[in-house]
Amino acid sequence: MLDSAPMPAPLLEVRGLKRYFDVSPSLLERVLQRKRHASVKALDGVSFSVRQGETFALVGESGCGKSTVARCIVGLYRPTAGSIVFEGGDLADMPSRQATIALRRRMQMIFQDPYASLDPRWRVRRIIAEPLVTHGLAQDRATLRARVDELLQQVRLSPADGDKYPHEFSGGQRQRISIARALAARPDFLVCDEPTSALDVSVQAQILNLMRDLQREFGLTYLFISHNLAVIYQVSDRVGVMYLGRLVEVADTDRLFTHPLHPYTRLLLETIPRLDAAAGDRPERDPVGGEVPNPIDPPPGCSFHPRCPFANERCRTEPPELIEAAGTLVACHAVEEGRLPEPGSQMSSAGGFHPPAP
Ligand SMILES: Nc1ncnc2c1ncn2[C@@H]1O[C@H](COP(=O)(O)OP(=O)(O)OP(=O)(O)O)[C@@H](O)[C@H]1O
Ligand code: SF4
Ligand SMILES: [Mg+2]
Repeated sequence: MLDSAPMPAPLLEVRGLKRYFDVSPSLLERVLQRKRHASVKALDGVSFSVRQGETFALVGESGCGKSTVARCIVGLYRPTAGSIVFEGGDLADMPSRQATIALRRRMQMIFQDPYASLDPRWRVRRIIAEPLVTHGLAQDRATLRARVDELLQQVRLSPADGDKYPHEFSGGQRQRISIARALAARPDFLVCDEPTSALDVSVQAQILNLMRDLQREFGLTYLFISHNLAVIYQVSDRVGVMYLGRLVEVADTDRLFTHPLHPYTRLLLETIPRLDAAAGDRPERDPVGGEVPNPIDPPPGCSFHPRCPFANERCRTEPPELIEAAGTLVACHAVEEGRLPEPGSQMSSAGGFHPPAP
């Protein structure tokens, strides 16, 4: 956790980020079946900042827009609107292509499925060497080899593993290879999109420990995405809770888990899986009650209102803005109006979170 003072400067700022996807039916369907153009508002005005050296987590159910945030930040998607600012520089407004490439080197991404992100035809040594070559970070073959060996050791693999192919490794080892490849570019900022979700619980803990050690060793800043609140509790300093393309609550991790304000955060906390549970006992994804609305046609007002026990007429018509309440940023009319009960009083265990046993 971060010390209270001095407050580190933001390394990354996401301001009013929107990303819409055109999901219109084909021209033929539009003409013959009179179907209309349609778009998914995957992100509809997301703003947050990540401070130097911290782990900022994004959590929310499947489809809420977590990966879209990640992909916009690392440049895989172009934002529909809004800006992404890294160390004060707007990514869409770099002075030259070289400046963009140099800045992109400093942000790397780790994906959920390490197998899909590693070329199966390449030996591990080549996979890890590629960013070193691309960014001109090794002057000759001997330096390149030594650096790849060093990276393999940093992720607790051996230099001999460099001669193998990805399929010769377990899921956890493959994620170590992905991490080594990401570290090769000497980044400051790692975007980690569900990096342990595909792994067994014991392996998951090893990878999380490795990531924590690397963060300390290299002063890394993480954006850590997960749908698993137990993992989020373990790794993050601050948390943003997303629902249908918007942030509904942003708070320090301890604060969020002990004093959740938004009704959606409270529901999520009720269904928290335990890190120490046997793999077979883990709940399936999306355990929160009620249906997630169709993102092509989200409900008016607060998009959580069809599932919210505290919804009133204002909630059905007026979208709530993120406002500060008791040190937390929260978008909820009931919080603003002071009509939300204390955590745990009406929504069972919410607010009564017990950290996973060691
Ligand atoms: N390339 C795309 N084309 C059309 N729609 C998309 C595309 N990518 C994402 N979406 C839609 O945008 C919304 C947000 O998707 P996103 O993948 O960001 O969610 P997520 O929170 O990462 O979900 P998960 O937990 O399942 O990974 C979803 O409704 C999804 O269907
Ligand atoms: S704004 Fe209204 S509907 Fe939305 S979470 Fe708050 S109380 Fe529930
Ligand atoms: Mg995702």
